[in-house]
Amino acid sequence: MGRDEFVAEFLERGLLGFYLAVAKEGEIGPGDEIVTLSRDPNSFEVTEIARLYARDRDDVEGLRRAAALDVVPESWRGYFREHLSRLERRHQRRLLPAPPAPAWEGFRPLVIREKVRESEDVASFYLVLGDGEPLPPYRPGQFLTFRVSVPGHEGPAIRSYSLSDSPEHDAYRVTIKRIAQDITGQKPGLVSSFFHDRLEPGDVIEAKAPAGVFTVDPRENYRPVVLVGAGIGITPILSMLNAIVERGPERETWVFYGVRNHHDHLMQEHLEQIAERHPYVHLHVCYSRPIRKNGTTVGRFHHTRHVDVELLKQLLPGSYYDYYLCGPAQMMHSLYDGLLKWSVPEHRIHFEAFGPAAVKSAAPDPVAQPDCGIEVSFARSNTTVMWSRCDSPLLELAEDSGISIPFGCRAGSCGTCVTRIVSGEVSYLHEPGAPLGEGEALTCVAVPANPLVLDA
Ligand SMILES: Cc1cc2nc3c(=O)[nH]c(=O)nc-3n(C[C@H](O)[C@H](O)[C@H](O)COP(=O)(O)OP(=O)(O)OC[C@H]3O[C@@H](n4cnc5c(N)ncnc54)[C@H](O)[C@@H]3O)c2cc1C
Ligand code: FES
Repeated sequence: MGRDEFVAEFLERGLLGFYLAVAKEGEIGPGDEIVTLSRDPNSFEVTEIARLYARDRDDVEGLRRAAALDVVPESWRGYFREHLSRLERRHQRRLLPAPPAPAWEGFRPLVIREKVRESEDVASFYLVLGDGEPLPPYRPGQFLTFRVSVPGHEGPAIRSYSLSDSPEHDAYRVTIKRIAQDITGQKPGLVSSFFHDRLEPGDVIEAKAPAGVFTVDPRENYRPVVLVGAGIGITPILSMLNAIVERGPERETWVFYGVRNHHDHLMQEHLEQIAERHPYVHLHVCYSRPIRKNGTTVGRFHHTRHVDVELLKQLLPGSYYDYYLCGPAQMMHSLYDGLLKWSVPEHRIHFEAFGPAAVKSAAPDPVAQPDCGIEVSFARSNTTVMWSRCDSPLLELAEDSGISIPFGCRAGSCGTCVTRIVSGEVSYLHEPGAPLGEGEALTCVAVPANPLVLDA
């Protein structure tokens, strides 16, 4: 059985029986007796390989044994080793600490205390409880999920916005970029426009309690961090940075902030003051397309380029940091891949996508990410695809396949992406925070456990 092609032949033919090497030629016929003279304690039945390959793909003990035995052909041992490490990665993800229990259940009214214009298309909203009660604390990097009724839009719209300041204040702050109509015909953003055009101090808005697992613990000042924010993705990074400097004591912190030009450069003075007052904070602002006026470049920035791993390699004394990334898809993909190649362990790279931009979905390497081998059908879209990126949730698989499932938080807490399971089962990358009914899946954090049909 030590030959690779033997297992392949066996799997192809699917015939059960004895396969024997010929020690001495002779004839065997029906009715002949077969006697087992001895059995290698390390023997491994070829049917076991078929079982582990085709049926019991989650049998970790069986896979470990198959991967360790010399009698199993090397290429198959390699396959089992790879599959095992994928399972272990999935398992580790599932063991991520469950998000903390929400400070309140469902939606609760918050009053807009203040609205501050930060740039031409970005405004901050300060929110408090109507009865003057203190707001529950949150973790830097968490977000709020809002439910708004926009005139002319059927049903409530749900969107999430990161808290953009540290928790040490008496109001929640969210900083929202208006998605404007553009020349490509992109429609104006429904909820961001509503915030900008319709909401003023004194107005009431419904929000879920702070949620999300993309967070920094400001007490862990012994863990140096690299915070990378680009565009409006700076909002959770601001919350983390403010919490780190307010909490003290000194924690080595590198901040990389990428924008196109000075128009998009938010909270410039605030960031510069932090870097000036705290020598352990290293601020690097990158403009990708700075504007020149009268022969000089407008704005205060450090580099004319995108934030990329080459810049990090140039500036950081080593790669031994915890990395927090939030920004456009392209930046996150390239940084994530670059950091992995720079030998940063996967568990030290944390990221949050604001939209269909999940980091791993754009880094498909068919060799490194072989088929996870589970078929997923989207019944209403009449589409069947293979789930082939083991850490990528079903929402991303749908988006990659051109199927749109509504989402809010992309983190398992708002319940917007809930989808009915027609058949099959799912497991979760981490404990979902939103309540789930029988036969439903939260697609933003769910992965298929076996062949699956979703009502989408
Ligand atoms: C966890 C989380 C935190 C977030 N935090 C923030 C935040 O702090 N500040 C903030 O401004 N936004 C944040 N967002 C994005 C926000 O939730 C909305 O997706 C965004 O405001 C667009 O919603 P809309 O209703 O205005 O646009 P929609 O009506 O949903 O979309 C209108 C058009 O804009 C496009 N579009 C949608 N989202 C984006 C986008 N992000 N960039 C470019 N085009 C887009 C759509 O493809 C569509 O064509 C966050 C999202 C998540 C999941
Ligand atoms: S999008 Fe919020 S739970 Fe999935």
